[in-house]
Amino acid sequence: MAVVIKTLRSPVFCFAIIISVIIVATKLQFNNSSGPQTTLLEPKRYLSSRMAPAARLGNHIFELAAVLGIARVLNRTATFFIEDDFYREMLENTSEAIPGLVNQFELVNGTVPSPTKTTKLNTRCCIFVDPLILENVNDQYLHLDGLFYQAWKYFPSMRDELSGYLKKSKKNYWLPKPDNDTFVTCAHVRRSDFTSNGFAASESTFVRSALDFIQDKENGEKLKNTIVLFGDDPKFMRNIFNNTSLSDQQDSQILNTTYFVSQNSPSDDLVYAKDVCDVVLISAPHSTFGWWIGYFSKGDKVYYMDIRETNDWVYRVGELNPYDYFMPHWIPLKFASNNSTIVESLK
Ligand SMILES: *[C@@H]1O[C@H](CO)[C@@H](O)[C@H](O)[C@H]1NC(C)=O
Ligand SMILES: *[C@@H]1O[C@H](CO)[C@@H](O)[C@H](O)[C@H]1NC(C)=O
Ligand SMILES: *[C@@H]1O[C@H](CO)[C@@H](O)[C@H](O)[C@H]1NC(C)=O
Ligand SMILES: *[C@@H]1O[C@H](CO)[C@@H](O)[C@H](O)[C@H]1NC(C)=O
Ligand SMILES: *[C@@H]1O[C@H](CO)[C@@H](O)[C@H](O)[C@H]1NC(C)=O
Ligand SMILES: *[C@@H]1O[C@H](CO)[C@@H](O)[C@H](O)[C@H]1NC(C)=O
Ligand SMILES: *[C@@H]1O[C@H](CO)[C@@H](O)[C@H](O)[C@H]1NC(C)=O
Ligand SMILES: *[C@@H]1O[C@H](CO)[C@@H](O)[C@H](O)[C@H]1NC(C)=O
Ligand SMILES: *[C@@H]1O[C@H](CO)[C@@H](O)[C@H](O)[C@H]1NC(C)=O
Repeated sequence: MAVVIKTLRSPVFCFAIIISVIIVATKLQFNNSSGPQTTLLEPKRYLSSRMAPAARLGNHIFELAAVLGIARVLNRTATFFIEDDFYREMLENTSEAIPGLVNQFELVNGTVPSPTKTTKLNTRCCIFVDPLILENVNDQYLHLDGLFYQAWKYFPSMRDELSGYLKKSKKNYWLPKPDNDTFVTCAHVRRSDFTSNGFAASESTFVRSALDFIQDKENGEKLKNTIVLFGDDPKFMRNIFNNTSLSDQQDSQILNTTYFVSQNSPSDDLVYAKDVCDVVLISAPHSTFGWWIGYFSKGDKVYYMDIRETNDWVYRVGELNPYDYFMPHWIPLKFASNNSTIVESLK
């Protein structure tokens, strides 16, 4: 060390250093006009998409997570155009539930600047298309006209990151709390609108039998098994089991019941799933909200009704690939051929 300092102090070396600085500075100046540094001056490139702003939270999160994942693959800035009041409401609702995800986006008040054309990528809701096919598109604003983006392959390996973007936990959900003695199974149930619009809706018999099946497999060493039902049809959910507590009944913590129905907001349900759910059952296989309850769940152990066993129209017309839509480690269930017990479905 001492030798180096002495050397640096000698006048000859000082002169040498000054000369070097001049040479380097000249080179930099030269490079600035033609060298690799010009890439820094290239305009920022953006990625955005048409959205389905009038849909619900599960759809919103799919669209934003996918656009963020695609933007990363294409080295572009994920951008959200607040085109009108529907887009604004979509943004507000999504921000309430998962603020960190919205924060990854550059927000623009208005529509995509003309003459940007829209580019097709994801024309079927639930079938993955590799975004790298757009690698060589040089538009500054790459605006996709896909919708829904319901495929985990658009955002692989982002589970920890996306979970971290959820809003902070609430203090009390009036639902079972995580503790060492209680195993919490969460079931998502969707019925009302699904029965009329051709999606596979939840059936009580399936929910009961599937939860029996799951309890046999997963009960572990915990003393108590508790089941929490989520969904938007409380009347139907209350009738699946006898003696169900609603989460807005403040005494539900005291009642010695096994079954609870959440009456919390969708965003609180997602946070509850992340904090508490050891295992999840998705009983209406194409509910995107049920999908996110499973994806964010604490235990990351998910069972779902095999959509191939249903008449879900999206699957029937070939717009949903189960391998793109359901996470690979999730387990499909179906009725055995005697229609009375549940078995695992082969993938
Ligand atoms: C994005 O950037 C990474 C790292 O600089 C590079 O390896 C990759 O090829 C780029 N991808 C595209 C689509 O330009
Ligand atoms: C936003 O949230 C409200 C209240 O939950 C709901 O009524 C409305 O349909 C939602 N809108 C969108 C676009 O998500
Ligand atoms: C966006 O536009 C709306 C009116 O269309 C206005 O109220 C709002 O302040 C604008 N926001 C920003 C960030 O410019
Ligand atoms: C739960 O179990 C952990 C590890 O076995 C233990 O450290 C902790 O004290 C227990 N908590 C309660 C409330 O019993
Ligand atoms: C509810 O309780 C009644 C009367 O005990 C019983 O007949 C029925 O099977 C029970 N239903 C369920 C879903 O457990
Ligand atoms: C419901 O719970 C009450 C109180 O624990 C009990 O007396 C009753 O038998 C239960 N009903 C059914 C149908 O299980
Ligand atoms: C709660 O129910 C379980 C199983 O039904 C029973 O073993 C336990 O004694 C009950 N606890 C109370 C406080 O009633
Ligand atoms: C139905 O079939 C399954 C699988 O083959 C079998 O395990 C179960 O015992 C059967 N249940 C009845 C009620 O026959
Ligand atoms: C099971 O249910 C299906 C559809 O409802 C029916 O076609 C079939 O005959 C049933 N099988 C048995 C063994 O009852």
